[in-house]
Amino acid sequence: MTNTPSDPTRRRALSSFVASSLAAIGTVGLSSKASADVSSPTSTNAPGKPTPAQAPDSLRKDEPNASHPSPADQPGATVRPIVKTGSDVFYRPTVHFSPTTGFMNDPNGLVFDGERYHLYYQYDPFAPYAGHVHWGHASSTDMLHWKDQPIAIPETEAGEAFTGCAVMDRANASGLFENSKGGMVALYTRASPDRQAQYLATSHDNGQSFTEYTHNPVLDIGSNSFRDPQVIFHKPTNQWVMVVAKSRLHQIAFYASIDLIHWVHLSDFGPSGLFGVDYECPNLIEVPVEGGGSRWVLFVSVNPGGPTGGSITQYFVGQFDGTRFIPDDTVIGLTDFAKDAYALQVYGNMPKAEAVSIAWLGNWQYCQELPTQSWRGCMTLPRTMTLRRDFAGWLRLAQTPRGLETLRDTAIAFEVKRIAAGSSAQVALPPGKALELLLFVTVDERPRDLPLGDKGRTGRFVITFGNDQGETLTIGFDAFSGQLWLDRDELKGFAQPFFTGQFSTVLNPDDRHFEIRVVLDACTLEIFANGGLSVGTALIFPVSPLDFLRLEANGAGATVERVELFQLRKVMERETAV
Ligand code: FRU
Repeated sequence: MTNTPSDPTRRRALSSFVASSLAAIGTVGLSSKASADVSSPTSTNAPGKPTPAQAPDSLRKDEPNASHPSPADQPGATVRPIVKTGSDVFYRPTVHFSPTTGFMNDPNGLVFDGERYHLYYQYDPFAPYAGHVHWGHASSTDMLHWKDQPIAIPETEAGEAFTGCAVMDRANASGLFENSKGGMVALYTRASPDRQAQYLATSHDNGQSFTEYTHNPVLDIGSNSFRDPQVIFHKPTNQWVMVVAKSRLHQIAFYASIDLIHWVHLSDFGPSGLFGVDYECPNLIEVPVEGGGSRWVLFVSVNPGGPTGGSITQYFVGQFDGTRFIPDDTVIGLTDFAKDAYALQVYGNMPKAEAVSIAWLGNWQYCQELPTQSWRGCMTLPRTMTLRRDFAGWLRLAQTPRGLETLRDTAIAFEVKRIAAGSSAQVALPPGKALELLLFVTVDERPRDLPLGDKGRTGRFVITFGNDQGETLTIGFDAFSGQLWLDRDELKGFAQPFFTGQFSTVLNPDDRHFEIRVVLDACTLEIFANGGLSVGTALIFPVSPLDFLRLEANGAGATVERVELFQLRKVMERETAV
């Protein structure tokens, strides 16, 4: 089904108004240096002028142009029956969203409609591989307990339904709704092997189903590497603004519209940040600064090319004036110090402009080979985002799980106050249960007579989740350097060359104190250190349940200022280990 603005006269008037007013904005955009450069990427450059970056097109001409293969798009890929295995149950998270069957990647269309939070997602319902992309859908009233909903946007002859956003068109700016209350509008990429263009669809039933606009695409620049629109309403300039990736050019393009249908180019951001093959899933949001004020944050996902391998989301802190994003400095941030949080998207239409994100808990390097069969892919917990000054004065993103306290069930008794150098404290864990650990620790100053050794020049504090099969998942803190590490290498359920085991991050230099919040849930681990300034997200695949937790002080003793351990209540009716 397709639709057009309800009143043709209104539509004509709107079009000419949009054309003239946007032409004015366009002049501003085109006068920007970045736009002028990009509009003629192949033109002869003046001597010494760098040629704009342009990674080559994909050689896989029968799949949409992206740096990851989509095996399910190949003929015959979906005829094999999907087998459900014991691993499918054992590895299925209990507090993280995962699809019943099929393959899931990016979150899409994150929006609050006034009553429900929507989570649409990149979804192949037919196979545990990427391809035949539809928009799957779940909804929730707290972003934790999700209700499965019917597929919202299917693959069509025009292409797969790639990543995009949803906005609430409450004023009926699009003219596509019959009543003045407006409704939900989705903007997303239709991807075929030779074209990626932005499409629009409307929902007249609060996001349950969508009708594609008759005159799609609404934005097409003739590229096969142009995708993942996110749209926000920018109040100061009273216009809708779209950020969208020119993936192979390593640029984020900004467009404006007053009706969500007609779009005019404003400016381009980048190339900036990491080298990589594809820039994807840009998201722009105003984030509160702790202590007062706000800054704009532009998230740009890069795949492959992350410093920990494969997929990574980078971010820039700066200002947005309605036309251009101007970063405060040349520093880039990464949302994660491990490698399994990608394609971060933010919620739109949030009360009090709360900044909340969800990312795909995966990495294109191995997501299609994970040891589950009937389903693959899960989402991170929803995370509240703020900006905070770190030890060096940089404004950095702080992420904390949103509302997780509401899932806390029985606390597991674990009384520890002091751990002497060389000793440890241990507690049994209920197998299969999602757990939350809160831990504040200060490592002692190194005794003066202790020789420098391989246990760190002061001490190391080691948190181990393990079992008697010899599997361990460790998180450690090195008090001398103020760094944290994560080691998933001693879990034996999955091996693949890119599934690397060790990651690290710096907390505060010259600080023997750390605070950490850990969420362990079947195949997922999320670490929020020092109030969420350092976040590590990792897939984990133990062969047997991790049934003990051990805290250990090496080299120097440690004072445990706070230790709390909770079982978390399951959020969905899915077959899981518990
Ligand atoms: C990011 C991405 C997007 C694309 C989608 C396809 O993970 O490659 O650029 O729209 O996945 O599923």
